[in-house]
Amino acid sequence: MALQIGDTAPDFEADTTEGRIRFHDWIGDSWAVLFSHPRDFTPVCTTELGYMAKIKPEFDKRGVKVIGLSVDPTDNHEQWARDIEETQGQAPNYPIIGDADFNVSTLYGMLPAGTSGDPTERTPAQNQTVRNVFVIGPDKLVKLILVYPMTTGRNFDEVLRVIDSLQLTANHKVSTPAQWQQGDDVIIAGSVTDEQAKEIWPDGWESPRPWLRIVPQPDKETAKV
Ligand code: BEZ
Repeated sequence: MALQIGDTAPDFEADTTEGRIRFHDWIGDSWAVLFSHPRDFTPVCTTELGYMAKIKPEFDKRGVKVIGLSVDPTDNHEQWARDIEETQGQAPNYPIIGDADFNVSTLYGMLPAGTSGDPTERTPAQNQTVRNVFVIGPDKLVKLILVYPMTTGRNFDEVLRVIDSLQLTANHKVSTPAQWQQGDDVIIAGSVTDEQAKEIWPDGWESPRPWLRIVPQPDKETAKV
């Protein structure tokens, strides 16, 4: 079955532009974002890798490690990194996995099991399904999977927004509504009874319907409730 939210992110060993890693060890106690690319020197991906480098401090602030992947050897990634720096104004400041043996792409369900051959002979379009974003928690479970077409550059600000929601809802029994941004009101989780909610929110909540209970965003840093 395809990799789903709540599954353990498959562990692997791979070469990256920053040396060989074992993925779970590399994640450690952090959160992680793995974003994938079909081949090096592809135009949309070039803009994505450059943009990600520019906003990496935002991921650092949230305790999230960033790692890219492209279905090419790491030697090619190094040349591509120079092109990214020249064309996008910033070289990748995070490791990029060299998935020349398709191991990670197949483990994560981005290419069919058994994909083999010389990766440099494949066209980007043949690998077009390798354009995912995975957010993985410190517990190594998959928290988010986004799948993009080859013609649409990814919105990494949305990835940050989801991480803000994931980190808030990991610590508090709330959910975040449509278009939620840090600081906006939140929804009391459906698993919380009114009795329990009265203990957690003694000032009460706004309730346009009994099943829709709205409260101000709890402080992200406060103790778990
Ligand atoms: C790109 O422009 O990044 C791209 C081109 C073809 C396939 C996949 C990605």
